[in-house]
Amino acid sequence: MKNADRRQWLKTVGLSGGFALLRGLESIAMDYPTTSPGNRVPIRLNSNENPYGPSKRVRKVLSDAFEIACRYPSINLEELVQLIAHKEGVSREHVVVTGGSTEGLKVAGLLFGKDGKEIVAADPTFQPLLTYAEKFGGRVHRVPVDKVMGHDLDAMAEKITPETGLILLCNPNNPTGTLIERGALKDFCTSFDQQAVVFSDEAYYDFITEPDYPSMVELVKREHNIIVSRTFSKVYGLAGLRIGYLIARPDIARRLKAGVMAMTNTLAIEAAKEALRDDEFYKFSILKNAEAKAYIYKILNEMGLEYIPSHTNFVFFKTGRPISGVHAAMKAENVWIGRPFPPMLQWARISTGTMEQMAQFGEALKKVLG
Ligand SMILES: Cc1ncc(COP(=O)(O)O)c(C=O)c1O
Repeated sequence: MKNADRRQWLKTVGLSGGFALLRGLESIAMDYPTTSPGNRVPIRLNSNENPYGPSKRVRKVLSDAFEIACRYPSINLEELVQLIAHKEGVSREHVVVTGGSTEGLKVAGLLFGKDGKEIVAADPTFQPLLTYAEKFGGRVHRVPVDKVMGHDLDAMAEKITPETGLILLCNPNNPTGTLIERGALKDFCTSFDQQAVVFSDEAYYDFITEPDYPSMVELVKREHNIIVSRTFSKVYGLAGLRIGYLIARPDIARRLKAGVMAMTNTLAIEAAKEALRDDEFYKFSILKNAEAKAYIYKILNEMGLEYIPSHTNFVFFKTGRPISGVHAAMKAENVWIGRPFPPMLQWARISTGTMEQMAQFGEALKKVLG
């Protein structure tokens, strides 16, 4: 199923239709025990992972792939590149496979941010591209998010100068979960991509429920100076295998490829190929995430805690108390929540989990903050 078809599917079923469908898909849930050894204790709701992955089909492929684990990844990479290119509607020359999308983020940070070049990004946002560039002499302008915790594009624009090498848009943003308004996003990208490369981190793109929300791959296809990153860690549930990819114009992709250091591995590539074919699990993940997120909202509403409506698999909410204490108290209840995100030190990020984990989170939160 191509990206657009998947998104069309979401649009067609809608969330309530989706929940009805989920009842049909519950038989799949039986294949994914709610208390697998990996997530029984502690309850890890701190890294925005997908507790159901890898899918049953991917697990089977993984165990069959042991035979080729003695081979370097080049043996099976080409087929994955073709699959990604087909899914995104680009040529294989546009695709750079990386060891998790974090490797892609770091390569871009290094390539366009090193040696005194400047990077403009929201604050708070996902850090690895920024901190990696800083280690190699890059300068980062962190622009506070606006009143509704979204990217303040006007304020970001003011920081763009001839020294700017890269502009990072994490969309939806981690940790706030906000989505940039589509018109503003396209205007911003097309207005500034001649001055600096625009990096669109779309790790959570699959969880967006706004119909036909554009991926910036659209602009890559029109030859803009834009890099898009995607990951197999979230909706596909392969975080531990480390595989992601970048989509960029072939001349940019070639430079990015040259900077890849770790690459991914043979098993991860096999897993990613099967994950792309496994539509049932893809839909299941999205619906289970929506169900868990609705539960988090319910708990926060009951407790009268402010939160930011999220387009991701986590929710950013106001604890009203210093996060360090809340973090420790939740940990004592066996529930791990996201790290502190300065300067928002009275806010917490909670990832979606299984419904059983959500119930445990609700109980713990009421105990800690109630
Ligand atoms: C916005 C964002 N981008 C990228 C990543 C990293 O994903 P990966 O596992 O592909 O390195 C994360 C992980 O949490 C993230 O939140």
